[in-house]
Amino acid sequence: MSKPHILVARDIFPEVIEQLAPHFEVHANQDDTLWSQAELIERLQGKDGALLTGTQPINAELLAACPRLRIAANMTVGYNNFDVAAMTAAGVQGTNTPDVLTETTADFGFALLMATARRMAEAEHYLRAGLWKSWRYDMFAGSEVHGSTLGILGMGRIGQGIARRGAHGFGMNVIYHNRSRLSPALEAECQARYVSKDELLAQADHLVLVLPYTRESHHAIGAAELARMKPTATLVNIARGGIVDDAALAAALKDGRIAAAGLDVFEGEPGVHPGLLAVPNVVLTPHIASATVPTRLAMARLAADNLIAFFDGRGALTPVNQPVHRS
Ligand code: DGY
Repeated sequence: MSKPHILVARDIFPEVIEQLAPHFEVHANQDDTLWSQAELIERLQGKDGALLTGTQPINAELLAACPRLRIAANMTVGYNNFDVAAMTAAGVQGTNTPDVLTETTADFGFALLMATARRMAEAEHYLRAGLWKSWRYDMFAGSEVHGSTLGILGMGRIGQGIARRGAHGFGMNVIYHNRSRLSPALEAECQARYVSKDELLAQADHLVLVLPYTRESHHAIGAAELARMKPTATLVNIARGGIVDDAALAAALKDGRIAAAGLDVFEGEPGVHPGLLAVPNVVLTPHIASATVPTRLAMARLAADNLIAFFDGRGALTPVNQPVHRS
């Protein structure tokens, strides 16, 4: 029996290509060419499945042009590149990679919070520029982390990981807002108190965004929300670009309406709003919250395992939709 044909849309770990090889005819993009949508459609012709890195849109246009495609496996937990309704209607399975990146991403969220609150990037640039001439009592004085109020918007697995770090590691008072409230047992474990979004904005000293990007969460933090935050507060986004209105944030940072921000994700990335590049009180990183070698390997392996299980007839391991089975 001939093997299914799989497209691997970006360069990934060679050991994952080896993992796929016994099961599939693998068409890998190890040159890491960045394809346009039209080029992706062209490469997907005759392919039964695809391993994606979360940046390739799987939308109605692509699905109509690639009728053989049966599964799109993201090596990311976020799947806002999927038009889930269109995929379900077209009978295409979508999968993501939850759990394997939770603790690593929570580590990074906390690192970005610390770097932002304690002005580490700004201070490092100052030192490298040769500007450090003497010690001063107020040089790069930042805001307190331990004992402060940590606000979390979006309390899924990563949000809970950040809450545990804040509460247990830094003695923070943790408040959160989420579409649904956690069970009392989980709230107790995270030492987190549920509040309204308004209360979250008003009370947080450090606000971390960890919610999925959807139509509803688009610009969940815009000018109005920033205006409700404390002028001493910091904002950290490790979720997705588009959740924050980057133009409004750049203006708020410039005018000192909040103290600082730490951003790992951006609207229209890899582009970054010029207003964010122009202000010193923001720490900017290029979407690396899950980037450790063991975690990225686990993510790629889980995406590959999803493809293998699906074509073995066992069903996807971490599905994001339930398409009607196609014969
Ligand atoms: C994810 O897994 O969603 C991370 O943001 C990497 O894209």
